[in-house]
Amino acid sequence: MSRVASEKWRSKLMSAEDAAKFIKPGMKIGVSGFTGSGYPKAVPEALAAQIKAAQDRGEEFQVGIFTGASTAPALDGSLSQVNGINLRMPYQSDPDMRKRINEGSAEYVDAHLSHSGPQVCSGHYGKMDIAVIELTAITADEKLIPSSSVGNNVSWMEAADHIILEVNSWMSLGLEGMHDIWYGVALPPNRTPIPLTSAGQRIGQQYYEIPFEKVIAVVETDDADRNTPFKPLDADSMKIAGYYLDFLENEVKQGRLPENLLPLQSGVGNIANAVLSGLLNSKFENLTSYTEVIQDGMVDLIDAGKLVAASATAFSLGPDYANKMNDNAASYSKTIVLRQQDISNHPEPIRRLGVLACNGLIEADIYGNVNSTHIMGSRMQNGIGGSGDFTRNAYISAFVTPSTAKNGDISAIVPMVSHHDHTEHDTHVIITEQGLADVRGMGPARRAKVIIENCAHPDYKDQLWDYYNRAVATANSQHTPHILREALDFHIRFLETGSMKA
Ligand code: COA
Repeated sequence: MSRVASEKWRSKLMSAEDAAKFIKPGMKIGVSGFTGSGYPKAVPEALAAQIKAAQDRGEEFQVGIFTGASTAPALDGSLSQVNGINLRMPYQSDPDMRKRINEGSAEYVDAHLSHSGPQVCSGHYGKMDIAVIELTAITADEKLIPSSSVGNNVSWMEAADHIILEVNSWMSLGLEGMHDIWYGVALPPNRTPIPLTSAGQRIGQQYYEIPFEKVIAVVETDDADRNTPFKPLDADSMKIAGYYLDFLENEVKQGRLPENLLPLQSGVGNIANAVLSGLLNSKFENLTSYTEVIQDGMVDLIDAGKLVAASATAFSLGPDYANKMNDNAASYSKTIVLRQQDISNHPEPIRRLGVLACNGLIEADIYGNVNSTHIMGSRMQNGIGGSGDFTRNAYISAFVTPSTAKNGDISAIVPMVSHHDHTEHDTHVIITEQGLADVRGMGPARRAKVIIENCAHPDYKDQLWDYYNRAVATANSQHTPHILREALDFHIRFLETGSMKA
């Protein structure tokens, strides 16, 4: 049976190729999609083919692509392979897209995820022309059931002049009821408080509401999300997870956290997933989570009865876990709530609930400043994503990373970060496989000592101490001692010799 059950909405059915013809050069397109889930599966590839055909005729054809976050080869990949994207926001992790960004053929605006939707609705990026949004189904009584991510869909459908819907029958009908779409979001000066006081609370409705007249096409698809498997847990990830769990246990012991902790946020990547696995074997019970994505480790925690409420905007699951979710979505929706990203990542509930944030980084400096986005200060890796939303507003903000990269030739702890995403003010804890630096309540001098001593790899400790001690002497012990001429010497040495080692 068709997933477009309403006769009225069926009148808009057409092929992806015909739907893509509505998209013209220079348009700004808002698409669904967040960490490989809920992106449109057919129209972007049809658009890429049309762009290629236009280019073959000698015509220029590029569009702006606005998403929730990263997507998949069928979207970022296919469009960037034909160099069809001139403007991209707010987060990506696709190798072809990354290449276009770093060679300068696509302009990339690395915006905070919670800000991206409202900024577009406010007109900061000019007019949005078309939204292309994936759904699970359109019911006979005209209900629009969201799919595996909500992301910026509400904002895009509001901001765009026209809407193309993709209805994907791969999505489980059990997703009906998992979403919480809150139409109370407004722009200044009309904003009101978000009435969320617990992670699993529902404040909105299960379905999207959009004007039928705005919809110019409905396309039927049947295709899986991009679900990338997590790497098997390695010894270093497990060590890092262990240090974090010991830290949390001690916080409980000291009376600074309740026994079931506070809502957990877990960033992208394998280490964050290792932390979740560590929680599975810990003594913690009745956990909650207020985060961006539901990862494999959270599904295990729900299955074990340890995670009792989980709020996010999307799934980020390996293939086995995605199938499990599809088979049991109705049951998981008792625990999981998927919200739009300007709520899942909003500073107000993050601060109110006292979220415990845990995110990856590329490099941190001896004072606790963090670079999450740029390799060697210049090359974009993925983007800031939700890391700024969470770290700036968390109750406790932890960063996790291996102490070295590139087979030990790069130290993740450096004298000065080569690009700045999170300031020392937002860094409470840094953890590597070497140990944990709890820098809360410390000024720069004490912070530097703890970060070097507890987190740096032994191969780089002497070099970092040498820099710090000479900076203290040179700068006459000023507040944050640096030797500016030498602050980036670690990076320069790597670029010149292939290793940061002296
Ligand atoms: N210098 C140079 N390269 C480095 C590096 C450093 N200090 N640290 C990591 N890298 C390289 C790795 O070698 C790897 O390169 P490869 O792709 O060529 O193998 C790449 O960066 C990714 O590193 P990896 O160790 O696999 O990282 P990860 O999957 O744990 O992700 C971040 C780490 C920082 C890239 C990731 O967490 C991120 O994008 N963060 C920003 C967004 C975010 O935090 N979102 C969550 C908020 S809810």
